[in-house]
Amino acid sequence: MLEFNKIWGELAVLEVKKALNIRQLGNKEKLPMDLLLLADPSREMVMAYAKRGECYVAEFEGKVIGVYILLAARPGIVELANVAVAKEHHGKGFGKRLVLDAIQRAGRKGFKSIEVGTGNSSISQLALYQKCGFRISGMDRDFFVRHYDEAIYENGIHCRDMVRLSLDLEETTCKG
Ligand code: COA
Repeated sequence: MLEFNKIWGELAVLEVKKALNIRQLGNKEKLPMDLLLLADPSREMVMAYAKRGECYVAEFEGKVIGVYILLAARPGIVELANVAVAKEHHGKGFGKRLVLDAIQRAGRKGFKSIEVGTGNSSISQLALYQKCGFRISGMDRDFFVRHYDEAIYENGIHCRDMVRLSLDLEETTCKG
């Protein structure tokens, strides 16, 4: 029974892999704001970095269910500025697919390193990024206190600090 469940699980993952289409959003297409706001409650900040970055969307069964934004930050360094999956599709492996796609794309574009930032309270996001090969590189203390009007709470933790993570694209080992 255990073996059957394992094989069934692997087949389900393969089906999802086949069915997910990740592509760059066209210039004239509307930003999936509902998704972007799941990752960042500030519409103003989202609009600002979306304008400067490249937006990628993930389509599943004809619907946009995921998004990420890549933003050239400094020479050779790109930032994964936002990543989000529609709530009804959480926990199916789509978030990991998006992060791995962003890493691969950034590597193909010739960036040396990819960075991401998340809140000190974002436990599952910290897990996801580290499972994709990111390592903690620093912390911006009180970032969320300085930049957001409303206090943010997640997992019962006050989100105050921005944990910075980075991944060296020249020595990436994570295959997903
Ligand atoms: N401990 C250990 N691992 C954990 C974990 C925990 N507490 N919580 C999640 N994970 C792991 C999962 O096990 C999985 O790894 P695995 O495939 O090796 O088992 C991985 O993290 C992510 O799972 P996945 O199903 O791909 O994630 P998802 O599709 O639910 O998407 C987000 C993840 C973060 C994109 C999604 O929850 C989301 O859109 N959240 C709102 C927006 C957001 O917060 N964006 C990030 C801003 S920094």
